[in-house]
Amino acid sequence: MAIRLCAVEDLAKGAYTRATFGDKVLAIFRSKDGNYHVVDDICSHENVSLTAHNQPNLEDFVHFTNDYVECPSHGAKFSFADGAPTLPAFEPIRVYEVIIENDEVFVEYEA
Ligand code: FES
Repeated sequence: MAIRLCAVEDLAKGAYTRATFGDKVLAIFRSKDGNYHVVDDICSHENVSLTAHNQPNLEDFVHFTNDYVECPSHGAKFSFADGAPTLPAFEPIRVYEVIIENDEVFVEYEA
């Protein structure tokens, strides 16, 4: 099922936000190249938010590039291509297929 997240212009390049569906939180990143990347907002190392949700003391440590997001807690980097981690995480995170249609951003989402 395709779920609309936002309009392309809603998020500036280099910015991120979150979307909640039930008990799931998605992290939405727009990298500096303008591409969108959507992952589960949860680090596989210690199950904390990658966007420092509920961890405002870590907001300054949320970093991402065109290729990966870095966990603000201990610095594991997760590939936007396939969710593969660097240490100290071992398990990949879920990466969602992003669909841009008519300047709107969607993801394929299965609960
Ligand atoms: S909680 Fe993310 S790297 Fe440790």
